[in-house]
Amino acid sequence: MALLEVRNVSRSFGGVHAVNDVSFAINEGEIVGLIGPNGAGKTTVMNLISGLITVDKGEIFFQGQPLSGLKPHTIARKGIARTFQIVKPFQGMTVRENVMIGALFRADAAGLKRTHINDIVRETLALLELEARADSPVEELNLAQRKHLELARAMAMQPRLLLLDEVMAGLNLKEIEKLMHLVRRLNERGITILVIEHVMKAVMNLSHRVLVMYYGGLIAAGPPEEVSQDPRVIEAYLGKRRQKGPVKEVQQ
Ligand SMILES: Nc1ncnc2c1ncn2[C@@H]1O[C@H](COP(=O)(O)OP(=O)(O)O)[C@@H](O)[C@H]1O
Ligand SMILES: [Mg+2]
Repeated sequence: MALLEVRNVSRSFGGVHAVNDVSFAINEGEIVGLIGPNGAGKTTVMNLISGLITVDKGEIFFQGQPLSGLKPHTIARKGIARTFQIVKPFQGMTVRENVMIGALFRADAAGLKRTHINDIVRETLALLELEARADSPVEELNLAQRKHLELARAMAMQPRLLLLDEVMAGLNLKEIEKLMHLVRRLNERGITILVIEHVMKAVMNLSHRVLVMYYGGLIAAGPPEEVSQDPRVIEAYLGKRRQKGPVKEVQQ
């Protein structure tokens, strides 16, 4: 059984078919990349999975159970955590306090001892290399550190599925490489990951499989080397990209 299954899902906004009859499955342990030009419907797919918006048609299953009608906090407690394209730490709090909120949000948080919660926070801060900034107010973090915090908050919930929406955006090459390393490390700890990313080399390097969206539809899915040679993908995505000029790439 797939960990996540999106089955014939559609969602419109007014006349815009943001997501149009999209189906895919994600298996436990995978890193799956979700790519496509701006406006293709990628973030909407994540919003649908995490319950921020509802589907018009179709159904999403997590561990075989339908998610329809469930509120975002219920879906989060089932084991799906996410980051946002625009990072949104809780202002006026420290890094540690932000991560603590993630830990307290766990399904079993109410039954956990305070020391155990503190252990989770400490481990998560170490995992995302934020220990040195643990007691800094979030306002003092630079963009790369805020991205690490965004991941730490999600990881503190100890999810089974992590949804990452453009965590690399705005970072320099060194910071991107660091974040790629961290994402791989999270995956090695058993977390299944769906990652939306514009930095092509990063998503192609990280992902076991890649899904390509174009105007709300899924136009290709498969291993990165296969998808990158698919003529529809080259036309839809790389063709479009070429018109916009060069993009940042990670050197191997
Ligand atoms: N809440 C919303 N209200 C109205 N239109 C939206 C909303 N969310 C997304 N859209 C539209 O749906 C389409 C897909 O958007 P989005 O999923 O954000 O694309 P991507 O993440 O691939 O750039 C776009 O045309 C966008 O303007
Ligand atoms: Mg988006």
